[in-house]
Amino acid sequence: MKSSNMTLKDYKNLITTIEAHNFYYYGLDQPRISDSVYDSLMQKLITTEKEHPEWITKHSPTQRIGDKPLEQFKKIKHGEPMRSLDNAFNEKDINNFCSKNQNAMTCELKLDGLAISCIYKNKKLEYAVTRGDGVQGEDVTSNIKTLSSIPLQLPDDAPEHLEIRGEVVIFKKDLEALNSKQKQSGNKTFSNPRNAAAGSIRQLDPKVAAARPLRFYAYSAHGDHLPGSHYERLQQLNKWHIPTTPKVVKVSSPDHIQAYYQQVLQERATMPFEIDGVVIKVDLIQHQEASGYTAKAPRWAIAYKFPAEEAQARVIAIDWQVGRTGVITPVATLEPTQVGGVVIQHATLHNIHELQRKDIKINDAVIIRRAGDVIPEVVKPIISLRNETCIDIKPPNTCPSCGSTLQREHIFIRCMNTTKCPKQIEGRIIHFASKHGFNILGLGQQIIQILCQQGLIQKPSDLFNLSVQQLTTLPRMGSKSAGKIILAIEKSKYTTLPRFLYALGITEIGKDTAKLLSKHYHSITKLQNASIESLSDISGIGPIVGKHLIDYFSQSENINEIKYLISQGVNIQEESKEPDTTHTAVITGKFDKSRDEIIEQLAKIGIHVSSSISRKTHYLICGQEPGSKYDKAVKLKVPIIRSNSLTEILTKLQSS
Ligand code: IVH
Repeated sequence: MKSSNMTLKDYKNLITTIEAHNFYYYGLDQPRISDSVYDSLMQKLITTEKEHPEWITKHSPTQRIGDKPLEQFKKIKHGEPMRSLDNAFNEKDINNFCSKNQNAMTCELKLDGLAISCIYKNKKLEYAVTRGDGVQGEDVTSNIKTLSSIPLQLPDDAPEHLEIRGEVVIFKKDLEALNSKQKQSGNKTFSNPRNAAAGSIRQLDPKVAAARPLRFYAYSAHGDHLPGSHYERLQQLNKWHIPTTPKVVKVSSPDHIQAYYQQVLQERATMPFEIDGVVIKVDLIQHQEASGYTAKAPRWAIAYKFPAEEAQARVIAIDWQVGRTGVITPVATLEPTQVGGVVIQHATLHNIHELQRKDIKINDAVIIRRAGDVIPEVVKPIISLRNETCIDIKPPNTCPSCGSTLQREHIFIRCMNTTKCPKQIEGRIIHFASKHGFNILGLGQQIIQILCQQGLIQKPSDLFNLSVQQLTTLPRMGSKSAGKIILAIEKSKYTTLPRFLYALGITEIGKDTAKLLSKHYHSITKLQNASIESLSDISGIGPIVGKHLIDYFSQSENINEIKYLISQGVNIQEESKEPDTTHTAVITGKFDKSRDEIIEQLAKIGIHVSSSISRKTHYLICGQEPGSKYDKAVKLKVPIIRSNSLTEILTKLQSS
């Protein structure tokens, strides 16, 4: 091997150079060197690190991919909630917003991806968290570290503490390439860039994230000694090689905002990423703070949303899909059609009534529409393009899944074979295991479908009798993956009442209604015995929901399934609140290990280290020669762990 003759200083400079080129390439989309020159810089870094393994820092670009798959994501509470934005849809809404905020403003793009908060401590990326429910999110640091557009280390003039929030996105062209790769390897394709970004970050194997062409754009920064204007903060981030939301401008009037909006709307189709509007913000941070927040959103910012995108497509066929409640939904198969940078092949017609009202025929040219995350829909046929090749659609008389006779119910047609219809059974189990239900990680739709087809499961409770051996009979399922799924099924037994209720799939009981009911009844037994009068006393529960609940709990097979689930070890925590598992600790004094190592080891046992102490701090970790934090902890009655040995601290914490 040729020796690189590098000094430690050269090594550090090389890292800075590579990170700068990552910014030009991924952040600005304007590479300054060719791919081969970039590759040779990386090669030089790898060679140097082989010669000097003692120099390797975890902030080196070579360390982005290394982490092992996680068992699950840790929950982390945001310092400040990650709120969402109120929406404006027209000029009037904007005028109204401007009349309440008469200060200088900025306009920028509203990127359609996944919101992430990146926390830098001592200029190093410490952790990255998803928005989650706005109060707490998931620790996705090992996935975020694989994004070359997020620096692992900031320059010397960056503050000690910096929180950067922004959006992880995937370029439209990269999504196309990713989807063809997914198809070739027999994997599920992503329906839009937002799903691809979220799906890549919210999975447990960093190597998967590393292979996905994700990018990050910051839209806010908080920390010490930052400029007092939002516009200047974004510029400052660029100087630190952090990409920011493109096309930020200062504006001074509602007309100016309209002109910006119209211009961006025109450029939208040719932009490399998906945007769903523009964001208008009050520029000065002190003015933002003075405006404050409503329960959900800042008063100093608003999203000016774009209208849904539409395109012309041709209907090839109509597929009748059987849902978990037996409702049959007509779905149009289309000639592949681009709508706002995404190829659409299926669009819903919602129900039989809509299909007939819109008078859609096979081979019709139709207008299709997609907006954000909503399933694309067929809006209307283009009657002027209709010809003799267009043929009427005949709604089915029998269920496409079980063959039983269908019934018309208002705007729906429904299969009444609730207990035996294979597609209804499959749908119920998929719903049971889904994110807001038992949240069984790794047990996706496709696996459940095969398990049902092979007769291994017929009802949700059968999931708890599955064995590793049975799962390994599935295509492409090794014993390791099967073991993980069985473990996830076991873990899912510890659940909460809202999740349990949602998972049962009672008609009209979504996640919010499930939460509301849990708050009032606290246990499944109390809810089972609730009268229609007591249900209708709850504000937010109407007579229809009440009737569905009474109907559901009056059927013996449902009661038996609930009893069976509980006898299988399903443990419903009576409390409707999800447990907050993150604890915070503050450190003071000297220890036998470096601060970085202590912070890393504490993170592994679910303890997040914070720099400032408050009544809410769970522990003060106190080494030799503590500072003023010790006095403060005593004053605030924060429990103190005294030791300068990391091993001893970990033992004390784990037994506390
Ligand atoms: S500011 C407190 N700026 O839109 C306000 N958000 O609907 C924080 N988003 O969750 C948001 N581009 O993920 C802001 N330039 C931008 C944005 C942006 C996309 C997302 C963000 C947020 C959602 C709100």
